[in-house]
Parts: sequence; structure tokens; C-alpha cells
Amino acid sequence: GTVVLAYSGGLDTSCILVWLKEQGYDVIAYLANIGQNENFEEARKKALSLGAKKVYIEDISREFVEEFIWLAVQANALYEDRYLLGTSLARPCIARKQVEIAQKEGAQYVSHGATGKGNDQIRFELTCYALCPKIKIIAPWRMPEFYNRFKGRNDLMDYAKKHGIPVPVTPKSPWSMDENLMHISYEAGILENPKSHAPPGLYTKTKDPASAPDTPDVLEIEFKKGVPVKVTNVKDRATHRSSLELFVYLNEIAGKHGVGRIDIVENRFIGMKSRGIYETPAGTILYHAHLDIEAFTMDREVRKIKQGLALKFSELVYNGFWYSPECEFVRHCINKSQELVEGKVCVSVFKGQVYILGRESPQSLYNEELVSMNVQGDYEPADATGFININSLRLKEYHRLQSKVATK
Ligand code: ARG
Ligand code: SIN
Repeated sequence: GTVVLAYSGGLDTSCILVWLKEQGYDVIAYLANIGQNENFEEARKKALSLGAKKVYIEDISREFVEEFIWLAVQANALYEDRYLLGTSLARPCIARKQVEIAQKEGAQYVSHGATGKGNDQIRFELTCYALCPKIKIIAPWRMPEFYNRFKGRNDLMDYAKKHGIPVPVTPKSPWSMDENLMHISYEAGILENPKSHAPPGLYTKTKDPASAPDTPDVLEIEFKKGVPVKVTNVKDRATHRSSLELFVYLNEIAGKHGVGRIDIVENRFIGMKSRGIYETPAGTILYHAHLDIEAFTMDREVRKIKQGLALKFSELVYNGFWYSPECEFVRHCINKSQELVEGKVCVSVFKGQVYILGRESPQSLYNEELVSMNVQGDYEPADATGFININSLRLKEYHRLQSKVATK
């Protein structure tokens, strides 16, 4: 049979490629360009030299921004109060294209190099099954005949030498990385001890906030339907409009000022805690800016309901259920909530922080006259007395009961 392998060009998936051939499969290598720093042509040559029948290098960065990241921005998606879901959002986008290739090539199988302890295997495979129920998945890291043979990196190295797989010349960093346009993650290896700090030089997308520039960048970010449509730097009035270009620019500015670093312990879907260090530069600026324009334009009660949906959405995305009836439903509701979320937010990006400076919107629910201390507006202060009295009824009753209990 034919298998489409999600290939990264690294040692693991190179060994998997050769191993699959050894098992008798025809292998098509698929490398997604989702905005990571990578030599794609090098990887293509490598896959072909290892015996891949065909190589697909697919640039999916624009669809990643427009169909996945923008929804996360609209939702203010955040997992366990801190993680902006950079890896979680990328997986369904990568797997969707892989299934498409398998269908085009008439391949029965897809394969990946995710470990058997992580979230990625779940996200990857649930996406494949949701989009193509009859697909067969080969997950070598869960197959005893594979993991009993490759017990560690040394076994992979030996296998590589024996089969003419180029062995990386630069020593591998002592942790695992996963990069895309939105973020990069560092996990495992020496980071497994949750107490040990990130070593200097680990971070790749952001400058150290301590040595970031002493002058801020001030940006105007314009939203329509909860999505950024224009970014202007007030310094030179340079504007950025297309989704991809705008996102790349925000990554650059945030990176320069050290914005978007976190170090957390999180709960994997599979049931274990793991320590991760993440950089999400542009995503962090957009998270703050969107929260602000949303608060400015959205009804209070709608916002409360939407907040609950966002929590659900984040969990679904983290757990790999992007393609599920419940996530479709939640996305529909979140999308509806964004119809009037528009306007401009002015932010200062400085020393690892995003500061909101001001906002304006044609859809603002903010009423300057109503809220003003100086103008009465369409509001009767005397009415507030009744409002407070009625609301205090319950509190007074509660007090009555408490004093009864106390005197007993
Ligand atoms: N813990 C994060 C998540 O579950 C990042 C996973 C990184 N994946 C990787 N293959 N290194 O989304
Ligand atoms: C992996 O297991 O491949 C990386 C970690 C994860 O997926 O959570």
C-alpha cells in the first residue's frame, strides 16, 4: 500500500520513512510549510534520496492564519489561563492537507512521528478520522516492533548510519521543539525538570525583554468582525493589511520587544502534566488588542456567554476536536458574536509587555455622556436608590439568618 508520511526532515521522521519502506510501503513524504524556519528544498532532496516515491511541500501558512489563528483571536482562546494554543491550532490544519494528499494519491495510509504520550497524536488522528473515516493510520511510536527497536536516540543514529540517512552534524538541542507561524514550543529533555530554568539562548522568536529597545513601538490595530485587518506603526505610518503580512509584521515587532514568552506546567489530554516553554509573539499582541475592542463593542451579557464558549473552544482545540459537531457549533456562535466587533486599538509594545493606550469604534457601546460625572444624561440618579435597595434585600435576609445562628 501507499502511505503519506508527515515528514519534518529530522532524524525521527527520516528513520520512519526508511522503516516504512522496509515494511513494504510506498512512501509519499509530505512537508507542511506552516511558517516554520526550515530549509524545505533540502528536506525535499533528503526525502527523495531516502526513497520517497514523491514529495509534497505545501505552503499552508495563509490558511493557517485565516482559518485557524483568526478564530482563536476572535475567541480569545486560552488553555488553562495561559497557553495560546499555537501547536494545537496547527495540527488540524496540517492533518487536513495530509488527508487531501492521501485522497488525491489514492493512498490508504497516513503516518506521523508523534509520540504515544502526547497530545499531537490525538489531534492528528482525530482530524484524519473526522475528515476521512476509512483512512488507516500508522503511528510507529505506538508500535512495539518500532519502539522496541528504537529505544533512544542512539538506536535512531545507528539505524541512520546503516541506511545512509544523513545524521545531523550539529548536536540536537537537549529539548524538543515544534515551530509554526504562530509559536514555537520547547519541551522534554532537560526541561522535564519543572524547577530548572530555561537556559540562555533557548528562545528563538523573541528577544530577552531585559535587553529589548528602550523606546516602544506604538501600533494601531484595526479590527473588522473581530479579525485584524490593518496594522499601522505610528512612527512611520507604515501599514500592513493582508492577513499573512500583518501577522508576520506583528511577530517581528513583538519579537523585537520580547513579547509572548511563557513557561508553564499544563495538563495533557492523555492525563499527565507536562512542562512547556512557549513563544507566541504576534498572538500575544492580538490577544490583548482583541480583548480590548471586544469589551468596547460587545453587550455585557453576550460577552459572559461568549466567554464560557471560548473556554470550551480552547479545551476542544487543545484536545484535538477541531473537527467535531460541538466545535463547529461553538465556532458558529463565536463567529456570530463578532459581527459588530470592529474599530481601532492603539497599543504600545515595550519590554515584554503590551500596553493598551486607547480605542475607538463606530460600534462602540460606550456612552461618554451617560457615564460622565459632569453631565446627567438620560439617567436618573434617584433610581439607583431603589436598585440598590432591592438588591440588598437578599443580603439583609442572609444577615438575619446568620445572627440567629450566632445567638443560638
Ligand atoms: N504542549 C503543547 C501542546 O500540547 C505543545 C506540544 C508541542 N509538540 C511537539 N511535537 N513538540 O499543544
Ligand atoms: C509528542 O508527543 O509528539 C509531543 C508532545 C505532545 O504531543 O504533547
